[in-house]
Amino acid sequence: MRYTPLVYSLLTATLAVSALPEKQRPLQNNLGPAMPPPPSDSPSTSDPSGGDTVILSDVLGNDRSINIFAGFTRDFATISQRFEDSALNTTILAPVNSAIMGLPRKPWEDPKDYDELGANAYEGGDGEERAQRNLRRFVEQHCVAASPWKEGEKLKTLAGDEIWWESKDGVKMIQPGKIEVSSVASRVHNGEVWILKGVRNYA
Ligand SMILES: *[C@@H]1O[C@H](CO)[C@@H](O)[C@H](O)[C@H]1NC(C)=O
Repeated sequence: MRYTPLVYSLLTATLAVSALPEKQRPLQNNLGPAMPPPPSDSPSTSDPSGGDTVILSDVLGNDRSINIFAGFTRDFATISQRFEDSALNTTILAPVNSAIMGLPRKPWEDPKDYDELGANAYEGGDGEERAQRNLRRFVEQHCVAASPWKEGEKLKTLAGDEIWWESKDGVKMIQPGKIEVSSVASRVHNGEVWILKGVRNYA
């Protein structure tokens, strides 16, 4: 069977449903957190470590507009562990769901794989591994290995490529690629979650 991360199938199905007018919606199961997000400047009362600080792993799931990307990060233990580590800062550049769903190909599909391996590039065990590798790189390209991040400061993503941001007329743009940042969703102890209107590295 062709590889599709479970979270992607679930979320795209849910989002398609929630795009329907209210009356026509079938009963939907609730994939996101039911509780409203805590204000990011107040200490979490549910921190299992007993500390009084909110960290990225506490807040990444709060904003439903980025829950596809948040779901992808949970597929990779080393990335999730980083978000749980209060000593490792990260700026997460999370593309909105609509940007991911509107891509000309799925985030785990690489045209090079299709050139080399044909239409079956993501079939079977090898195909699944290949897709996982590509998806991991996609996630890593959207995580900057530091926070705070100053304007113009060139930093590496977890995938190793160098990026920076600049602000024009009050709008933050990720460079290279001129990807607009629509908001900073959270600022917590070990980093920030920025919401991107687009996706990096999609030619
Ligand atoms: C990590 O982020 C916090 C909160 O912004 C900041 O106070 C701290 O200096 C950062 N640590 C490093 C090593 O950048």
